[in-house]
Amino acid sequence: MATLVTGGAGYIGSHTTVALHDAGREVVVLDDFSNASRRVIDAIRSLTGSDLVVVEGDAGDPGVLEPVFARYRIDSVVHFAARKSVSESVADPLGYYRANLGSVIALAAAVVDRGVGRVVFSSSAAVYGATSTLPVTEDSPTAPESPYGATKLMGERILADAAAASQMTAVMLRYFNPVGAHPSGLIGEDPSGEPSNLVPRIMQVASGRRDRLEVFGGDYSTVDGTAVRDYVHVMDLAEGHVSALEADLTPESSRIYNLGTGAGTTVLQMLAEVSDVVGVPIAYEVAPRRPGDPAASWADCTRAHHELGWQARRSLKEMLADHWNLTRPHPEPTDSSPPHPPST
Ligand code: UD1
Repeated sequence: MATLVTGGAGYIGSHTTVALHDAGREVVVLDDFSNASRRVIDAIRSLTGSDLVVVEGDAGDPGVLEPVFARYRIDSVVHFAARKSVSESVADPLGYYRANLGSVIALAAAVVDRGVGRVVFSSSAAVYGATSTLPVTEDSPTAPESPYGATKLMGERILADAAAASQMTAVMLRYFNPVGAHPSGLIGEDPSGEPSNLVPRIMQVASGRRDRLEVFGGDYSTVDGTAVRDYVHVMDLAEGHVSALEADLTPESSRIYNLGTGAGTTVLQMLAEVSDVVGVPIAYEVAPRRPGDPAASWADCTRAHHELGWQARRSLKEMLADHWNLTRPHPEPTDSSPPHPPST
């Protein structure tokens, strides 16, 4: 039996594929490579020493899903394949609703038809409103600020309804702020694209590709005036998916879990940590707040701990060291040196 991982060549998907393999599962990856490199597959194969099965196609296309379910004995699905830029979703809301919800509906239909037991859904802390009380629990009010966040909340609802009317169990994982990379440096978030998230941008300053970091807002009611987030190692997140597949959740038909560390870090604290890990000062300037940003957000992960037996184990320093290992400038390869690690 195998686990189907849609979007398995992406950032969290590739780490989860490795974690599933390490846990002894067969994996079939379905990815259309619209936002991921095919080189990631080579990296996963070399990390796992396996002949990973990869199907190229759109997870929202029933014509793609049907032969996958017919050919492979799929007993569980982890669904990552989705568009994931908040700003792009504001500019192209209908494209986001079509892509992200179309794939959930097509996949849920295939899963119900085939009697697959469990679906794990890649959701986000973006489903919560900006004014949640802290820490954020799974029962905190939901009020997504963007079409992207709305597609995640609606995706959860679609899967929960499908699960209630069938034999499948749906597990929604709401990630806080993923950071880091596999310690090998072979997979991680694509360092070649133009990032909008904090840590990739700080790393660009550290490596000289960006002059200084703009700190969005210095007047929040937080310890140092800058915004607080819950940064969690992508390897811990990957292991959370393994736990979500394996946990005994009877008699629930669906369940929601926060995945974070439960600790908050400000932007200035993050700058200091990166400076410490990399060994260079990080130049910055305080800029206006970014619209839609909450002042502070960190997770209560008690439910995941109690019910999934999962908790984040890796420290902030470890996340940053692994991220830096992936993104730091590497010398040009020579004939005798190994090639530069592939990016996602
Ligand atoms: C963002 C997304 C969120 C998504 C998450 C995944 C937005 C509004 N939200 O969350 O939906 O789930 O990424 O990674 O895009 N910051 C700076 N300077 C920078 C970049 C960021 O000060 O150059 C600050 C931000 O204002 C924020 C913090 O750093 O306070 C973290 O930002 P970011 O990494 O973009 O994550 P979120 O905004 O929390």
